[in-house]
Amino acid sequence: MLKSHSCGELGKKHAGQKVTLAGWVHRRRDHGGMAFIDLRDSSGIVQVVFNPQISPEAYQVAGSLRHEYVIQVEGEVVSRPKGTENPKLATGKIEVMAQKATVLNPSETPPFYINEDVEVEESLCLKNRYLYLRRPRMRDNIILRHKVVKFIRDFLDAKGFIEVETPILIKSTPEGARDYLVPSRLNPGKFYALPQSPQQLKQLLMVAGLEKYFQIAKCFRDEDLRADRQPEFTQLDLEVSFVEEEDILQLMEEVFTSLVETVKPEMRLIKPFPRFSYKEAVERYGTDKPDVRFSLELKDITDIAAQTDFAVFRSAINNHGKVKGICLPGCAHYSRHQLNELTNLARGHGAEGLITLAFPPDSYQLSAVSSDKVKSAAARHLTQAQLENIAAKFEAKSGDLLLIVADKAGIVNKALDALRCEMARRLNLADANLLAFTFVVDFPLLEWSEATNRWEPMHHPFTALREEDTPLLDSEPARVQARHYDVVCNGCELGSGSIRIHNRQLQEKIFQLLGYSKEEIEERFGHFLRALEYGAPPHGGIAIGLDRLVMLLAKEQTIREVIAFPKNQNAVDLMFDTPSYVDKNQLDELNLKLKHETLRSE
Ligand code: AMO
Repeated sequence: MLKSHSCGELGKKHAGQKVTLAGWVHRRRDHGGMAFIDLRDSSGIVQVVFNPQISPEAYQVAGSLRHEYVIQVEGEVVSRPKGTENPKLATGKIEVMAQKATVLNPSETPPFYINEDVEVEESLCLKNRYLYLRRPRMRDNIILRHKVVKFIRDFLDAKGFIEVETPILIKSTPEGARDYLVPSRLNPGKFYALPQSPQQLKQLLMVAGLEKYFQIAKCFRDEDLRADRQPEFTQLDLEVSFVEEEDILQLMEEVFTSLVETVKPEMRLIKPFPRFSYKEAVERYGTDKPDVRFSLELKDITDIAAQTDFAVFRSAINNHGKVKGICLPGCAHYSRHQLNELTNLARGHGAEGLITLAFPPDSYQLSAVSSDKVKSAAARHLTQAQLENIAAKFEAKSGDLLLIVADKAGIVNKALDALRCEMARRLNLADANLLAFTFVVDFPLLEWSEATNRWEPMHHPFTALREEDTPLLDSEPARVQARHYDVVCNGCELGSGSIRIHNRQLQEKIFQLLGYSKEEIEERFGHFLRALEYGAPPHGGIAIGLDRLVMLLAKEQTIREVIAFPKNQNAVDLMFDTPSYVDKNQLDELNLKLKHETLRSE
């Protein structure tokens, strides 16, 4: 090895020892005729002092060093003099007095600072990913990811789970996104699909009698990308035979609790994990992914609104809509500009507008507030009693601001969910050290899609339904409840799972209900249905988005910050500059011809 120690491991106990270090020049400064280098390697940073009195040669080398040069240093570890210790640095109690220094490789000036956590244009970070990954924050994220995966593997191994790799070149398995297709050279005109998840394969492993499977699985989905979505991502995928919902939920609670205690002991959880039915989550938070670190719950005032003469309320209610809102404590003083911003946010989520009601800050009793004191365009349409009822429903205090949306229920919930989260951010209501895991259960099995004019699965078509709801499949599909559950954390959908259908007839019936013809069912799922005929055990499972889990543990805002080599919003890998054109020969071999030859730059 070119080094005897790692930079980050050095401490008081090494004082007096001679060490050889190797790493990158993180920072340099000259002071009082000496040079100080922060030397960085994968373990951390240590200060190296170049004193011309101790080694004129080393001091001379230090003079030539620039950021990101790779160097080797020999020297002695010494305790820092009192008053010069650096509490911000893990190694801040000591420094290394250089006796010899060698440049192992110089570096061009990097396109952005490695040693400062200032924001850099994302395309630069992605194009120069190997440099961005040198930043200590990114290194910590990658190490955290490793620890999370290792913990999961050890934890599940101890519980008797077997990790099985499943193929990447398979057939389309529906998870609601478009497939990535791979043309087959040996089978002209035919394509593999990359797995959107190992869903069918893990169920087939249950048919195979494995009983407890898991996998750290790569999944591929061609869908619109967001902060928490990548075209290829990783799931902790698991499946167990002879289980019921409660078994999987308890296993998840145990995994996440022990994981956080092990890798992020400074973060807190709410135990037991709160549970919501889908209906309750949507009613109280406007979403099935509630962030319960803060309250700001939605209140339904449709019944009060129905008694008013206010045209905005009345027209929403006449269109079978709802009137709901949230109460922002102490925000009555918001300026017109601030209210306009919130209105625009609501509009961005489909609402036609936002009704605001500001209760004057100086009134002791809201019941005594007359409508002319309440700042709102709606106030003059409301009677004193209606105003009081609204205030009571929100438990509003003087100085509070109500944000109210009247529209179709879906729009009301979506807009208020956005406002709730935005206001929690602005008012700093969410405890950054809290990981509020919740379970959302009792989902409907199906939802009617206006776009495709047919029933779509809320989750995927393999989800089992409550046995007692089976007759409803023919009469009222909308009322059928799924045996499906989600894990949500801090407003992010972390994972989904369900008890599965293990009976061929029922599975076939669901495919039919989803609008597949007999031929399509055979062509797409014949292999799977046949497997169910051979004593498939009752089984269920879940998949957790690993990237999202690490993002939350690392307190990052996007999963790109916890993936070594992610793609940008257009699914482009800027470092490789891919997807890219291929040779005509390659296309010929694959029996492919581009429709628009001009797309290709020869
Ligand atoms: P689902 O489609 O809900 O379920 O996916 C499970 C979890 O995977 C993560 N996830 C993603 N993460 C990053 N980028 C994406 N594009 C992306 N898409 C999904 C989310 C999500 O909650 N087969 C079922 C699971 C099961 O039923 O067992 C499935 O894949 O965190």
